[in-house]
Amino acid sequence: MKETILKMSDITKVFSTEEMETHALRGINLEIDKGDFVSICGPSGCGKSTLLSILGLLDMPSTGSYVIEGTEVSQLSLTAAAHIRNEKIGFIFQSFNLIDELSVYDNIALPLRYRQNPMSHSDIDQAVMSCLTKVDMAHRTKHRPNQLSGGQQQRIAIARALVGNPALLLVDEPTGNLDSKNGDAVMDMLKTLNLEGTTLCMVTHDPRYADMATRKLHLLDGKILAPQAQTAHPTLVDAF
Ligand SMILES: Nc1ncnc2c1ncn2[C@@H]1O[C@H](COP(=O)(O)OP(=O)(O)O)[C@@H](O)[C@H]1O
Ligand SMILES: [Mg+2]
Repeated sequence: MKETILKMSDITKVFSTEEMETHALRGINLEIDKGDFVSICGPSGCGKSTLLSILGLLDMPSTGSYVIEGTEVSQLSLTAAAHIRNEKIGFIFQSFNLIDELSVYDNIALPLRYRQNPMSHSDIDQAVMSCLTKVDMAHRTKHRPNQLSGGQQQRIAIARALVGNPALLLVDEPTGNLDSKNGDAVMDMLKTLNLEGTTLCMVTHDPRYADMATRKLHLLDGKILAPQAQTAHPTLVDAF
C-alpha cells in the first residue's frame, strides 16, 4: 500500500531584493511516497536547489502548502523546522559539507548529538558503526575528512545522512565533484539504499544517473513539466 511521505501543493518561492524579484518556484505540486526514488533535472537556474532547500526545510516557501508525514510545515519557526529536519531528513551535497576538524566518526555522530531527545552513547555508537559499515568505511573512523579521497568523503556524507534513519534523503548533484568511477560507485550505493527502502529525491545533471530513479521530473522556469511535455522536451537524454 502506498504511504505518502510528503505533499507539496502550489508551492512558490520569490526572492526579493530592492532592485528585483526572482520567481524561483512558480506553483510546485509534488507528492513523494515511501520507497520512491525521484530525480529532478533541469537547466541551471530553473529552481532545483531552491526546491531541495524547501523540501529539506532549509528555507520556507513564499506561498503554498507543504505537509511532511501529516504535519503542515510551510509556516514553521526556524527552531521547529530544525527539529523536524534533524529527525526526518538527510542531506547529501555536491561539496560533501563534512567538518574537517572532526573525525569521520564524530562527523557522523553529530546529527544524533543534536537530537531533541538525547540518545545514549551506546545507541549512537551502534548507529554510527552500522552506517559506516553500509558505506564500506568502518575502517576509517579516526581519519579526518581531508585525509580521504573525494569518493570516500561522499560515502562518509552518505553515512551521516543515513544515521538518523530519515524518512527522506535529499541529494543535490552527488557526483558533481567526483570522477566517473567514484561517481558511479556513489550512485550504485544510492540505488542500493533505495532498493533497501530508503526514499530519495535527487537533483542531477547526468541523464544516466537520472535514469536510475523510479520517477523522473523535469523542472523549467520554476515549474515541473507535465509528463508528456517531459518526453517531448529536448533533454540531454535525447542528445545521446
Ligand atoms: N538566495 C537567493 N536570492 C536571490 N535569488 C536567488 C537565491 N537563490 C536562488 N536564487 C535565484 O533563483 C533561481 C533558481 O535558483 P536555483 O534554485 O539555485 O537554481 P538551480 O539549482 O536549478 O540552478 C535563480 O534565478 C537564482 O538566481
Ligand atoms: Mg543548483
